[in-house]
Amino acid sequence: MCGISAIASHKQVASKLLNTLLNLEYRGYDSCGMSIYDGVQIQHKKNIGNVNEVNHKVDFLSMKGSTGIAHTRWATHGGVTMENSHPHPSNDNNFAIVHNGIFSNYQDLKEELIQKGYLFKSTTDTEVFSNLLQDEYRKSQNIEDAFCESLKKIEGSYAIAMITNYNPGVIYAVKKDSPLVIGVNDGTNYISSDINAFISETKDTILLGDFEYVIMTKDSYEVKKLSNRNKILKEVIKVKWDRETARRGGFSHYMLKEIFDQPQTIRNALQIQTDQLEEIARKFINKEQSFCVGVGTTYYIAMIGTYLFSKFANMYVPAISSDEYPNLIPVKKDHHVLFLSQSGETYDTRMAIRAAKNCGASTSAIVNVVGSSISQTVDHCIYQQSGPEICVVSTKAALSQIIILWQVALRVGVLRNKLTQKEADAFHDHLHEFAEIIEKVLNEESGFIRGLAMETSNINNWLFMGKGIYYPIALESALKMKEVTYLHAEGLPSGFLKHGTLAMVDENLYSLFFLPSREKTHLFESTLMAIEEVKTRKGKVVSFCLEDDTKTKELLDYYFVIPKIHSELTPLIELVMAQLFSYYSALHLGLNIDKPRNLAKSVTVG
Ligand code: F6R
Repeated sequence: MCGISAIASHKQVASKLLNTLLNLEYRGYDSCGMSIYDGVQIQHKKNIGNVNEVNHKVDFLSMKGSTGIAHTRWATHGGVTMENSHPHPSNDNNFAIVHNGIFSNYQDLKEELIQKGYLFKSTTDTEVFSNLLQDEYRKSQNIEDAFCESLKKIEGSYAIAMITNYNPGVIYAVKKDSPLVIGVNDGTNYISSDINAFISETKDTILLGDFEYVIMTKDSYEVKKLSNRNKILKEVIKVKWDRETARRGGFSHYMLKEIFDQPQTIRNALQIQTDQLEEIARKFINKEQSFCVGVGTTYYIAMIGTYLFSKFANMYVPAISSDEYPNLIPVKKDHHVLFLSQSGETYDTRMAIRAAKNCGASTSAIVNVVGSSISQTVDHCIYQQSGPEICVVSTKAALSQIIILWQVALRVGVLRNKLTQKEADAFHDHLHEFAEIIEKVLNEESGFIRGLAMETSNINNWLFMGKGIYYPIALESALKMKEVTYLHAEGLPSGFLKHGTLAMVDENLYSLFFLPSREKTHLFESTLMAIEEVKTRKGKVVSFCLEDDTKTKELLDYYFVIPKIHSELTPLIELVMAQLFSYYSALHLGLNIDKPRNLAKSVTVG
């Protein structure tokens, strides 16, 4: 998982490449580098650290030339070292490449190349490709031949961009199972892992498909099929995201901005066309069994989906974590699987899709990133239109997925005659109201949540608990807390407590309970009972309640005040408040909130 950028221009490219790297940094930030053809030969600068740190060490802007490639890395094969950072030159320095993905057969290829006398400086899989290029060029003396023949030899997933001394001013790039997009402009053309990299320069974009390659100069591009080298005519898409959307918009962190974006992203999700939702809803009706699949946060969202389908459509839709999918045999020809993925690039989810398709199952997806691998692989894809999510941890994209699942569940409920259209419309209206209420909660409660986070940020161990739909809400909230604060937060069903975890409770243990509204009598009372169990053992309890609920307040050590809303929407309010609680806890601890240690935005490796 890494970010790739390549630019051919009529001007110097170092500063443009640097900007694209900064925009791609969320994809990985343990090392980075640049190679630029300086008029005589390719020059390289790279080192370990994030983009600004490396720039400080090596001074990218001193590099001269108008054609170059750049890379920001998240280590997979080979440790975080300068040798392993990209770009990787061939032994003779006539080729330089940047790569995202994994060459699964690189060890065999490396062995063969070593036998031929090639030397390897790094322990990466990537360097194999640079030397394969040199080796193939030696045979054919033709760059395109060398590029295509080298690609024939490799297996695995890749997005690659290459420059060569033999053809200055030209960039070669190709993709399979890893994202790559082209940006076209007057006199400067771009290739990148993500539209965000160049959105401030151009919105005219071309999506590259798997096994397609592009030969690009500053004022031309030619896309070809790898199998027969035939030219492909590609549509230029105008991206709607603007520069401002991709920026922090005055917030101190992307995470905070993205939490505050949520009223708008909910509205966007509510504007998704009915026929899009209908198409997926029909799959739930027409297929014998449906599943909801995602990983990490999106698995927890899939679990929330299970409760929504149960509630609104009286249908059991099990959630499966993509990474566990290969260990189960859940899917048959008559089944339908709905995949969730913000990035649309997650390896585990892509592999689960592949397995589902191999079984002949019908596939659909809810994805945020337009043109991403998952969106192109499934039978039907809904784009959630949340805009770019830059913070490594997911907030707005996750909530939008819930809103879309909610609408699909309502539609399935109507099709199954479990809900009338009138009832479904009423719920739809409540979701619109929810956008308003969230806006108010964010503006009015942030200060209080921040205060509480400051008071509790020294607590090292948390239990996050809930029952019913509040259980996956607790799991997701605990994940957020872990990711940004590095504190231990364990999510569990509150009914589980007395079956073991209660042993941990003493005056030092803090629990956050996701408490339903009183209208949900059974859920409310049984969650309250679990709170009592903790309180009896002197454990500290934080929870949510209405302003006038003095009885509940008396039981709690700390509480967040929630507004009076429809009882089905309470879990979503609590989810958003818990996002803020994690954010402010991490802020108080002075952590790198947008890029937590050891994590990266899209996990494209297994
Ligand atoms: C957590 C988080 C991750 C992702 C997971 C799947 O905040 O963002 O757990 O949810 O890596 O990513 P996508 O949704 O891109 O498939």
